[in-house]
Amino acid sequence: MLQKLEKLISSVELKLSTVNDNKELEEVRIEFLGRKGQLPALTSEMRDLTSEERPAAGKALNQTKQKISSLFSEAEGKLSDLKGSDSTSGIDVTLPGRKQNLGSKHPITKIIDECSRVFRRMGFVVADGPEIETVYNNFDALNTPKDHPSRDELDTFYFDDGRLLRTQTSPVQIRIMENNEPPIRIVAPGRCFRRDTPDATHSMNFHQIEGLYIDKDVSLADLKSVLITFAHELFGPDVKIRLRPHFFPFTEPSVEYDFSCIMCKGKGCNVCKNSGWLEIAGAGMVDPEVLQNVGYDPEIWSGFAFGMGIERIAMIKYRVNDIRLLYENDIRFLKQF
Ligand code: DAH
Repeated sequence: MLQKLEKLISSVELKLSTVNDNKELEEVRIEFLGRKGQLPALTSEMRDLTSEERPAAGKALNQTKQKISSLFSEAEGKLSDLKGSDSTSGIDVTLPGRKQNLGSKHPITKIIDECSRVFRRMGFVVADGPEIETVYNNFDALNTPKDHPSRDELDTFYFDDGRLLRTQTSPVQIRIMENNEPPIRIVAPGRCFRRDTPDATHSMNFHQIEGLYIDKDVSLADLKSVLITFAHELFGPDVKIRLRPHFFPFTEPSVEYDFSCIMCKGKGCNVCKNSGWLEIAGAGMVDPEVLQNVGYDPEIWSGFAFGMGIERIAMIKYRVNDIRLLYENDIRFLKQF
């Protein structure tokens, strides 16, 4: 019996060594392991053995079964390895790999990064504030009158608990001043929210970058020089700026500032609506009321602040004519930046 089992193993080995494909492998399997195969035949011979012979033979038979099954798995493994390099198997290992899309920065992020970089080089530190704000930080501390239209529920998103989605990055000024001693030089980029009806130039969420500079003897000339440097860094040395009188509750005097049109260099074109100027944002000298609200002595400290729309700059720089394109996550659009 033992000899027969040994012979069986070597003939399985021999047969498997000549197998070339699954079909042949299956034939060998039937020959040895099938219902009428050699292994079942030997198994039934166990019955003819004496009870003394049986335990040893049973053990040998089990070992043989294990050996044969591992021989078959080995042969199967070899066949599938062969298949891997076989061009008829459906996998062509010589084909070039599929290109992975790496992705890129969103144009809004790029502008935020670029503005932050320019201001950092002028000595500003990048600060941050929450998108959910208190009415106090977003309006009261910024000297906004109780009846100011921007406080209206039609303009601002309020939560039931009285807090709101900040309508501007200006409340970061309050947070920074409340928690730090002057001098201060920060910029704070971030997302803001207003109840606007979306169109080509309005979106319910948008981004601003806020600036705040507090020191002794700060003047409007300091603000202007920072804005000129910023304009030159962002759009090149030919850009001019102009300040126009305006009103903001938290600055006095307040200005709006424009850059000369980067498309037509001030001559007038459809981008600047023939004015030669592009409106960028608001700014001004920090109102003494605001300084007092955060506990700074306006007799000692003075400063300027500014805030600008990131989307506005992105749209000018990348010549995007509809703000909604920036929020649709259309890869075909985003790929261009
Ligand atoms: N927060 C103003 C807005 O959203 C922009 C602004 C104007 C910010 C004047 C300032 C500033 O810091 O001084 O319209």
